[in-house]
Amino acid sequence: MPLHKAEHSDHFDDVFASNDLDVTAPKLRVPEHQMEAKHAYQIISDELMLDGNSRLNMATFCGTWMEDEVRRLMNETFDKNMVDRDEYPQTAEIERRCVHMIADLWNAPDADQAVGTSTVGSSEACQLAGMAMKWRWRNARKAAGKNAEKPNIIMGVNVQVCWHKFARYWDVEERLVPMAEGRYIINAEEVLKLVDENTIGVVAILGSTFTGQYEPVKEIADALDKHQAETGLDIPIHVDGASGAMVAPFIQPELEWDFRLDRVVSINTSGHKYGLAPLGVGWAAWRSAEYLPDDLIFNVNYLGGDMPDFAINFSRPGGQVCCQYYNFLRLGKQGYAKIQQACQNVALYLSREIGALGPFEIIHDGSDIPVLSWRVKDGNTINGHSLFDLSERMRNRGWQVPSYTLPRGLQDTAVQRIVVRHGFSRDLARALLVDLRECVELMEKHARHPSMGEEKKQGFTHL
Ligand SMILES: Cc1ncc(COP(=O)(O)O)c(C=O)c1O
Repeated sequence: MPLHKAEHSDHFDDVFASNDLDVTAPKLRVPEHQMEAKHAYQIISDELMLDGNSRLNMATFCGTWMEDEVRRLMNETFDKNMVDRDEYPQTAEIERRCVHMIADLWNAPDADQAVGTSTVGSSEACQLAGMAMKWRWRNARKAAGKNAEKPNIIMGVNVQVCWHKFARYWDVEERLVPMAEGRYIINAEEVLKLVDENTIGVVAILGSTFTGQYEPVKEIADALDKHQAETGLDIPIHVDGASGAMVAPFIQPELEWDFRLDRVVSINTSGHKYGLAPLGVGWAAWRSAEYLPDDLIFNVNYLGGDMPDFAINFSRPGGQVCCQYYNFLRLGKQGYAKIQQACQNVALYLSREIGALGPFEIIHDGSDIPVLSWRVKDGNTINGHSLFDLSERMRNRGWQVPSYTLPRGLQDTAVQRIVVRHGFSRDLARALLVDLRECVELMEKHARHPSMGEEKKQGFTHL
């Protein structure tokens, strides 16, 4: 009996019995021929399993848990280009509303006249804010007939890499406050040692990437007020609130770090961190239009309409902005406060328990942003095992707990850090502790054997 033609075709085959999956997929050259969509999907989806489980990644600050409604909105908005404001006026309107809401959260003097923009993330927002400070400083210097060729910016060595990029890409001298034993962030005294007439601004971080601590914005602002009274120099502050600017307004509302301080001229945050939006959105806001020089804004007409554009990217996804708005509507201040407080409770619980294990000194317990960090009490090792060894052992259990050395000033000190994010429950925290305790006990029992090889520094990105 003749076989039905279709039985010869690959079409009815199980994905894993197909010709496409019978060979390894092309890696470095675009293949000559097409394949079934479901086959290509299966190959890539399977390969991505090797990335591990993002919810067990304790290094990242970026959201790894989303509600189903966010996933639905992301599906429905994958085609929205944020820059096409004329074609997608409602997406642009949603961005505008978010800017107002955020400016209000940060106590802008007039949130109805909010000046700000969405970005791809904090890195882009920091470039924009840094440029605005440089342009303002340069305009003022030129207007006063003074030299404007040697701008500098003051910040801690603990700034995220985006600020080193800013200094290098925009040709601004970076003056870095080093860390010192017991001081992992900047303070007013150290900042004042570095400022001069060429200072475009001071960057204060709300939630240091290295330790999770808030830098003392008010103390620095007060010191710069005093300095201005003595010298006449008016030095602005930018607050890098990549994480903290979406935490403090909800659970530390009494802390003065934002536009309540006259000296704070701009603030950035990552919508995709404690803003709880999916990866790919950040925000920058200025105190008022005065702090965003006009000549940084381009008016483009080729999308229809005459649209102001202040961004480094042109095309970028609009879905994340829609989801940011979703979260603002869905959660309100009450919902954000509950989520951030839940994260903080877990961070405090973890730091109590990790501190009680014995060998560790807690650097920050998570009471600023819900991020805890610790170091080994006596030197850098437990029975010869380093924190890097501990990270590796934890990774065998699926946990990614990063170890890294601190920057200049404390460069020989290694620390570990956990970022407690939305979706990291107390039960998961308990599971992590059980594994951590077991790893530490093993290290205490068995000295590190030389055959374990050279100390391996785990790759780690300050995200
Ligand atoms: C303090 C700080 N600034 C800036 C950034 C960069 O943010 P993004 O990853 O959103 O570009 C980070 C990332 O962790 C950060 O912690």
